[in-house]
Amino acid sequence: MKLHKQDILKALESISAPGEGQNMVESGAVKNVVTFADEVIVDITINNPTLQAKKKTEVEIMKTIHDKVYEKAKITVNVKVDAPAKPVTNTIKGKAIPGIQNIVAVASGKGGVGKSTVTANLAITLSKMGFKVGILDADIYGPSIPIMFDVEAERPTTVNVDGKSKMRPIESYGVKVLSIGFFTQPGQAVVWRGPMAAKALNQMIFDAHWGELDFLLIDLPPGTGDIHLSIMQSLPITGAVIVSTPQKVALADAQKGVAMFQQDSINVPVLGIIENMAYFTPAELPENKYYIFGQEGAKHLAEDLKVPFLGEIPLVQSIREAGDIGRPAAMQTGTPLEHAFEKLTQNVVQEVVRRNDDLPPTEAIKITTMAGCSAVKK
Ligand SMILES: Nc1ncnc2c1ncn2[C@@H]1O[C@H](COP(=O)(O)OP(=O)(O)OP(=O)(O)O)[C@@H](O)[C@H]1O
Ligand SMILES: [Mg+2]
Repeated sequence: MKLHKQDILKALESISAPGEGQNMVESGAVKNVVTFADEVIVDITINNPTLQAKKKTEVEIMKTIHDKVYEKAKITVNVKVDAPAKPVTNTIKGKAIPGIQNIVAVASGKGGVGKSTVTANLAITLSKMGFKVGILDADIYGPSIPIMFDVEAERPTTVNVDGKSKMRPIESYGVKVLSIGFFTQPGQAVVWRGPMAAKALNQMIFDAHWGELDFLLIDLPPGTGDIHLSIMQSLPITGAVIVSTPQKVALADAQKGVAMFQQDSINVPVLGIIENMAYFTPAELPENKYYIFGQEGAKHLAEDLKVPFLGEIPLVQSIREAGDIGRPAAMQTGTPLEHAFEKLTQNVVQEVVRRNDDLPPTEAIKITTMAGCSAVKK
């Protein structure tokens, strides 16, 4: 059986493109169709970034070709997701960050609540959804992203771009990573002042060859100190997500984190709060939930502060183990954890899209004086 491109396109014309009143061929969603013998490859682009939307489109195309053209056709569908937001050009003091669409800071008030774990798993899930993702590990006290991506021993090489020497981020599982940990000795605590850290981070952004990124996630150190102010001063952050456990002491610090981003002089949109370690589930009794840090504390905090609640991640031994061996838990396909991270990531993407629809791009701020912290002036 020899398949013909025209027959395939005709069949695909019966599938409507969501919300556009057109079919997927007219709307331009079908980018390419290649046929040979009984095989067909269809390349399409969709706007909806969810995995369900991708799967649904894929299934619909396969079914339509089988029904209308040839029931035994061997079909490959390549689905690409368009960048989620209207392109936001991040600029810093007149300097654009070429190719980086959205910078999302992951913060908490309290340490050890799971910022790095959440960052790693968000990155993996975004990448699985078809986005181009990078992580900048900004934790000068304890950079943990290199361990979580199993690239501890790696060192970035340089690449020549337009006559300039640039740092090449290390790529692992499709995610580009740069970390302060690549430039320090393991186990050596680096105590840097905010301006020094900001300078190092600036180099990792502007003197690095990130290429095109839909999302650059920044894993921040714990707290709300001058290092955070320096980072926000120098980078146009699209929005921040705050991670907290349901525990009272963590919530109090999370609240400070939200307040820090929202204060007038900083004004970085808070995309929402993530509840990590929401409850403990033992592997052998997955139905059992133990609310060891209290129940729904972060959810209630989000309601009180009128910021979106982005989702909850349980406390599961395999999340910790996955982090330690350098293969984030979201990579374990078909598991409830993969699903939990998918739900969370979809909510984050949705909030980024909403934020970009509603607000102008964040500008790098200039802090001159700030009560209670050392001010940074350039
Ligand atoms: N949902 C979870 N289930 C099980 N273990 C978790 C979970 N989230 C985080 N952990 C574990 O808790 C520890 C702290 O997590 P992580 O390093 O991500 O926190 P952090 O907020 O980045 O810490 P720091 O403030 O030091 O940067 C790690 O050992 C991690 O593997
Ligand atoms: Mg961390």
